[in-house]
Amino acid sequence: MSGEKLKIAIAGLGRMGARHATHFFGLTPRATLVAASTPEKSEIEWAETNLPGVKTYLNFDEMLETEMKNGLQAVVIASATAVHAEQAIKAIRLGLHVLCEKPLSTNADISQSVVDEHKAALQKFPDQKVMCGFSRRFDPSYRDAYEKMQAGVIGVPSVFRSQTCDKLDPSGFFVAYAQFSGGIFVDCSIHDIDLALWFYGEDVVVKSVCAVGITAVSPELRKYNDRDNAVGIVEFYGGKIAQLFCSRMMAAGQEDSTEITGNAGKLAINTQPMTNLVNIYEPTGIRREIPPHYYGRFKDAFIVEANEFTACCLDNKPLPMKLDGAVKAVAIGQALQESLITGQKIEFDETGARKDKKLQARL
Ligand SMILES: NC(=O)c1ccc[n+]([C@@H]2O[C@H](COP(=O)([O-])OP(=O)(O)OC[C@H]3O[C@@H](n4cnc5c(N)ncnc54)[C@H](O)[C@@H]3O)[C@@H](O)[C@H]2O)c1
Repeated sequence: MSGEKLKIAIAGLGRMGARHATHFFGLTPRATLVAASTPEKSEIEWAETNLPGVKTYLNFDEMLETEMKNGLQAVVIASATAVHAEQAIKAIRLGLHVLCEKPLSTNADISQSVVDEHKAALQKFPDQKVMCGFSRRFDPSYRDAYEKMQAGVIGVPSVFRSQTCDKLDPSGFFVAYAQFSGGIFVDCSIHDIDLALWFYGEDVVVKSVCAVGITAVSPELRKYNDRDNAVGIVEFYGGKIAQLFCSRMMAAGQEDSTEITGNAGKLAINTQPMTNLVNIYEPTGIRREIPPHYYGRFKDAFIVEANEFTACCLDNKPLPMKLDGAVKAVAIGQALQESLITGQKIEFDETGARKDKKLQARL
């Protein structure tokens, strides 16, 4: 292991970007955060206070142009989803390593274009690393469950149930967010879809999807073709199924949990959410607190992600997951979102291509 530090920059300093910036600034010993960009002036002010010595830019392109001359090696993309692909492609073409927040895009074809650019860039930059940040893959509980499944503890896994459920936010935040998020399946369930692809294996092929949803708390979401609660069913070739629940309505806090059932047992992750091991005994009973949002649950996973990504870049080690999987996840999320709105079941052939699109192309 060399003593070299990875020179990394960040794009986006919103909720997630500020967290990534903090992790790379102070909690990733083998990385140096050299620059940050955001078009939002208030976020530049935040960076000047909280990231001393880090150069700030209002423009992503200008940051890349200037910092490339200073030896920039990598970039984290934590901007709004709508610009992930274009920013990732610019960085890939320059030979930079890229950690891009999920999803690569709300559209599978655009997501594929990021993969294609990376494949082309590898001819010139064979050691380039490009990863989509599915943070749950770095969580110790999910990793432990995965290892147990691999060791045969539950036999052959065939039923997967997973949920991403946010705390109710009555401020209207999720309505504004829905304009650009791609919808609840692409924004929330993408994590559960990625987990299903991980646990079932990267070669698993989707056979069909269908979904239903409601607006139990935010009817305004309908104008953006979104819902605040939804359930999706994904069928895979080879006799495997997944049931996904996504919600913006949890009263207690963040409730992200997963169950994987096989013919010899079941693994369950976080089915009893908790902030820590404290139980509060009161006259009315016993209760425990749970994290109010995803960061409370996954903070440690994000820090592991930053450190492992850095190590893979510096030591030229393979990344823990393939970029192609991030496209598969968007394709399934997009199809679930479509099914949610149209009520139609969407079917795929054994190559993973949509049957209806192929039919339309032939007509
Ligand atoms: N891995 C996870 O668990 C997780 C959790 C939350 C968010 N995310 C992802 O992180 C990304 C950011 O989410 P957030 O909650 O921080 O959003 P946010 O709205 O708080 O921040 C978005 C950032 O992008 C910048 N931005 C907006 N429009 C831009 C444009 N046209 N060009 C360049 N920059 C632009 C904003 O200035 C801001 O810095 C999203 O893609 C989201 O899906 C991932």
